[in-house]
This record gives sequence, C-alpha cells and structure tokens, in this order.
Amino acid sequence: MKIDILTIFPELFEECFSFGMPRLAIERGLLNVDAHDLRAWTKNKHKQVDEEPYGGGPGMVMKPEPLVDGISDILGHSPTLMSKGERSILLTPQGKRLDQRVVEDLSLSKRILLVCGRYEGMDERVRSYVTDEISIGDYVISGGEMAAMVIVDAVTRLIEGVLGEKDSLIDESFINDRLEYPQYTRPPVFNGDYVPQVLLSGNHQDIDEWRKNQAKARTKSRRPDLIKPD
Ligand code: ADE
Repeated sequence: MKIDILTIFPELFEECFSFGMPRLAIERGLLNVDAHDLRAWTKNKHKQVDEEPYGGGPGMVMKPEPLVDGISDILGHSPTLMSKGERSILLTPQGKRLDQRVVEDLSLSKRILLVCGRYEGMDERVRSYVTDEISIGDYVISGGEMAAMVIVDAVTRLIEGVLGEKDSLIDESFINDRLEYPQYTRPPVFNGDYVPQVLLSGNHQDIDEWRKNQAKARTKSRRPDLIKPD
C-alpha cells in the first residue's frame, strides 16, 4: 500500500513509522509512506499557506491553492478522477468518525492520501477535491497530523502479511463488535491477585468458553453501545 501525507510539518513523520507495525510493514515491502511539505506548493515569497477569513473572525484559514495543487501533484492526476482503490482523506473533526469498520474499509485501498488541516480550518472549497473526510474522535486536536498517524498505524496492522498470526486479529477488540477478553501472563500470583484458574487448566475448550464469556460481559459493562439488538 502507498500512503502519502500532505502536511506543513513533514518532520513530525520522520521517526513515527520507524517503530512497531508500520516499520515492519515498510521492511516487508508492504507499505510505502511519504510525508510531503505543503509549503512546496505555495507560490508566495513567504511560503504562506494561510490567510485571514473572509467575513472576519478569529484565526487563519488554510488557502485552497497549495492544498489542491499538492493533492493533484501527489496523486499524479486530477483529484476529481479517482480510481477504485484510491482514497484522498481530509482529516477534520467534522469528518466521519473513525472506527474499526472504517479502518477495515481503508485497508482495502491501494493508495491513500492523507491531507492534514491546521489552524482554525481550511477553505471550504477544498472539500470537493477529496473522496473522504475523517475525524479520529469527538474532540479537537491542533491539526490533522496526529490523526494521520493514527490512521496509518491502524490501517497498517490490517494489511495482509503484516501481522504474524491471523488469530491475533480475530481475538482483537472491536472485531465482531466485541472488546477483547482479559489477558494474563506470568507470574501466576501478583500482589495477591491470582490468574483465573481456567487459564492454567490446559483445557482449551474451557479456556475458549471463558474468554468468550469474558469478552461478552466486558463489552456489556463497558461498551453496551457496541452490542447490536438481535
Ligand atoms: N483535526 C483536528 N481535530 C481532529 C480530529 N478529531 N480528527 C481528525 N482531524 C482533526
């Protein structure tokens, strides 16, 4: 998969994919990520990417030209002529909320361009030049960069061949609309707290059953919103 990021802070991305799953995916040749400096597409002397809003008000607004020129150049074609498997995503608190389903859908793409907003917002007309708008949650962060990092990480884990065992995906939280069951490792007693006996029993049928029930109970108490009515 190819992922491009359009940002005024490309330096932020220098280290962050050198660890964990993204690093593994890059090393295995399954992922290629490039962060592009939006200022490369400015035409003014000061490489200014923002201006005051028409109509007044606080803060600055990102200009449309560098963003749309950047999107076109990175894609190598008109942003309005996207092929299947290609996505261009604006990171904004006004976008569709990211969840595991959205991540799964994105993981089927061949190519993703993540467009990071900054400041108080961007010129409304940019919206017509992307295929999607995504928010990582109902809170505001100071720009789309961290949201882009979240998407790269979450999507990378689902690329075929990145995770060692398919099983580790099956049991994970949010797959099948469930939270994951509790996990334990050595020591068997920690500060007087015991590992559930069933996990030491060696009986895999009982262990599977226990885990299923735990996942169900945990989802019910912590995230009842995930449970679909029958
Ligand atoms: N930019 C600012 N807040 C954001 C959010 N919650 N999701 C995506 N991009 C953002």
